[in-house]
Amino acid sequence: MPDPALAVRDVSKSFGGVKAIRDVSLEIEAGERISVIGTNGAGKSTLFNTIAGVFPASSGSIELFGEDVNRLSTAARARRGLARTFQTSRLFEQLTAADNVFIALGGNEFRGGLLRLARRSPARWDRVERLLDRVGLAGRGEHLVADLSHGEQRQLELAMALALQPRLLMLDEPAAGFSPAERGQLVRLLRELPQEITLLLIEHDMDIALAVASRVVVMHDGEKILEGTPDEIRASERVREIYLGGSIDHAA
Ligand SMILES: Nc1ncnc2c1ncn2[C@@H]1O[C@H](COP(=O)(O)OP(=O)(O)OP(=O)(O)O)[C@@H](O)[C@H]1O
Ligand SMILES: [Mg+2]
Repeated sequence: MPDPALAVRDVSKSFGGVKAIRDVSLEIEAGERISVIGTNGAGKSTLFNTIAGVFPASSGSIELFGEDVNRLSTAARARRGLARTFQTSRLFEQLTAADNVFIALGGNEFRGGLLRLARRSPARWDRVERLLDRVGLAGRGEHLVADLSHGEQRQLELAMALALQPRLLMLDEPAAGFSPAERGQLVRLLRELPQEITLLLIEHDMDIALAVASRVVVMHDGEKILEGTPDEIRASERVREIYLGGSIDHAA
């Protein structure tokens, strides 16, 4: 058996007195597509941040492609093939869409003068344009991020994550603020991802979460309470209760 892309074992994370996640375990095979759902405050983003190394787990362990990464920084985890987007935007607002992708391709060394140099390379331009095209931003490259719609900014974040050629792609609510048309486009894009990319998706929109995933993880009050196929999740009384009982407002 090859190593799983990701193995989360009994991971907990507390912030002061708040146990944001409690003893969460999750194993994902390479190439699998997993959605994490759950109401506001369930611990979804905390789980992501712990996997990505934004902060250390309070207890438990995390393995990426068979390697213990508990003590590794976010950058070191990224070098091992993990790319993620954030629930709130982390774009360079005063640069163009294309320049943001250039930076993702080249790392921070592309900022400033080197960015102008990178822009002279037709091969890089070709990659940038293909990435923009892939996420539905064809022809928008020379627009400033600040002038893009909210949906376009999220599409750009996805292009930047894909620029890293990730082995494990983690997206935190990529459809937040999307129009129905943009939602449909996102579902198509995620379904067309190369098979070798493992996908871990947090998504409030059940339709998207269930359309994209082969397996769905349900979080509630910091715990993983259920895991199943999209059909099992659709049929689950527990999930219905949680979603009817709890708020599914979009906080952001
Ligand atoms: N940096 C932080 N400092 C303190 N408390 C935090 C921090 N991040 C998250 N929490 C708390 O941890 C719990 C889980 O939050 P988290 O953001 O992981 O939930 P979520 O499932 O992503 O919610 P949402 O759907 O609203 O994005 C919440 O009670 C939250 O207030
Ligand atoms: Mg969140």
